[in-house]
Amino acid sequence: MIWDMDPGIDDAVALLLALSRDVQVDGITTVAGNVEVQQTTKNALRVLGYMGRLDIPVGMGMPKPLVRELHTCREVHGEDGLGECGLPEPEAEPVHFLELWRYPPHKAICTGPLTNVAVALLSIPNLSSALREVIIMGGALHLKPWGCGNVTADSEFNFYVDPEAAKIVLESGIPITLIPLDVTADPKLAFTRALLEELEPETPPARLVSHMLDFMLGRQGSVNLHDVVAVAYLIDPSMFEVEEQKVKVELYPVRGKLVRDPQGVLLNVCLSVSPKDLIQVVLEGLGFRRRS
Ligand code: RIB
Ligand code: CA
Repeated sequence: MIWDMDPGIDDAVALLLALSRDVQVDGITTVAGNVEVQQTTKNALRVLGYMGRLDIPVGMGMPKPLVRELHTCREVHGEDGLGECGLPEPEAEPVHFLELWRYPPHKAICTGPLTNVAVALLSIPNLSSALREVIIMGGALHLKPWGCGNVTADSEFNFYVDPEAAKIVLESGIPITLIPLDVTADPKLAFTRALLEELEPETPPARLVSHMLDFMLGRQGSVNLHDVVAVAYLIDPSMFEVEEQKVKVELYPVRGKLVRDPQGVLLNVCLSVSPKDLIQVVLEGLGFRRRS
């Protein structure tokens, strides 16, 4: 599987969970999003180094969206993008991201703005027919109270940052399973200070996640780890309710709003997940024990 990401704390926690659950990650490409692409690239390499997995190649991707100005999210993820977690500087160098997309595995997961994926689809002949399953964390369909935007009232961050890329990818014909805020922003999936205090981190990934959650909870009352939900789908899709929906990405006047539209493209869209099952998969997978 190839993974396009913008670490970012929730991308990093998702990667720690995937590696802890022995999910096969053949390559990671990094994109500008939560922080600039130089930093998202460093962060992917820092987390891989921490997990002893520098065998996984990292490709450095696009420094800005296709058309719009870059919009980052340092206020949530911290100056280094990983909650000032103190991980050492990378011990490896990235390659060019298209090298990893040129001969892709059949499965991909995307947890950042879709700039890299759009450029890869436009640059590499037959890429869209090589991909058999693409899981995308992004968008907000306003189907649930928490399914509103998280950048503006209308738009989710990944689709807001690069709406043109999101439109290109969603309309490319690749088989997409979309995981929108309508699922990932569910308050029943939120980490709180009280929950964190109940948890005993028993592994290196759990200790690093504790630090990053502590950072985020120092800035907000509760934390939804959106990208972790996308990886949980990868690990056990049976926890999720999925339905086909016709959707499209609006570019103007609203930047990056995802809407249902009878003329839209037909995608598999996750509508809900069992909070109890998901939280158990995440905590057990990372190596947390609940203090009795
Ligand atoms: O809206 C949530 C998404 O935007 C997540 O992927 C988070 O990492 C940010 O990229
Ligand atoms: Ca992300």
